[in-house]
Amino acid sequence: MQIFREIGPLRAFLIEKKGAGQSIGFVPTMGALHPGHLALIAVSRSQNPLTVCSIFVNPTQFNNVSDFEKYPRTLEKDVDMLEKAGCDVLFCPDEPEMHTRSSYLNFNFGHLETVMEGKFRPGHFNGVAQVVSKLFHIVNPDHAYFGQKDWQQFVIISTLVDELKFNVTLHSVETVRENDGLAMSSRNLRLSEKQRRQAILIPATLAEAKAKLKGGDSILSVKKFVEDTFESNPGITLEYIEVVNSKNLLPLYSVEEADRPILCMAAFVGEVRLIDNMFL
Ligand code: PAF
Repeated sequence: MQIFREIGPLRAFLIEKKGAGQSIGFVPTMGALHPGHLALIAVSRSQNPLTVCSIFVNPTQFNNVSDFEKYPRTLEKDVDMLEKAGCDVLFCPDEPEMHTRSSYLNFNFGHLETVMEGKFRPGHFNGVAQVVSKLFHIVNPDHAYFGQKDWQQFVIISTLVDELKFNVTLHSVETVRENDGLAMSSRNLRLSEKQRRQAILIPATLAEAKAKLKGGDSILSVKKFVEDTFESNPGITLEYIEVVNSKNLLPLYSVEEADRPILCMAAFVGEVRLIDNMFL
């Protein structure tokens, strides 16, 4: 695997590969890699002769300084995992390489960024859009791969690609889960043993809520069920539960209103904020 820390040499390398007709698959990450990331690398490898992964803990998408500081950084282990997974190129720039100054660019995604994650993490999607558009300009990928766990992010990046006419096809890859159902996340590394056990409530309640909706229960009653379930479990605090149209993230009053409704949830286990979702 070739490792680049600077934009110039990476660009030169990728332009040559593209000139030789190789399609580029791109997996942008913030590191602390886990099997969910490796699944993205595997899909990219199955569809492209060249797979590029980036690792950059992007400060502009953290609305909470302590969350940024505590975000796990495990570069040596990540490099080892990427080598074993057959990734061809790693781009791991330092902060000044990506953000030379505080940016004048401001993205506005309308209601897409004021619901769910956007409501509780102001400025988060502006930071994501800034860094992803820079990464797309630098790597110029043909395909880019994201985990389904960050569905709202996927909808926002799809909008970014559509509005700015990036020549890239986006792929959302199914969430990889631990045996007990917990969605894999770099943040899971910050959970104590006890918190790790408590965190199972997130996928378990989502699955129960999904079954209730499929069985004909109303969205209102299912949201109340989720809220009551979390209230009776100390140590874990629900931030939101929403049932939305997966295409435009608009909240639904009945599941029949959308072709593909999705249930989305965020919760704090101690200080650690986890998100998850399930399509109906
Ligand atoms: O999903 C992530 O890991 C990040 O938000 C991304 C897309 C790499 C941008 O920093």
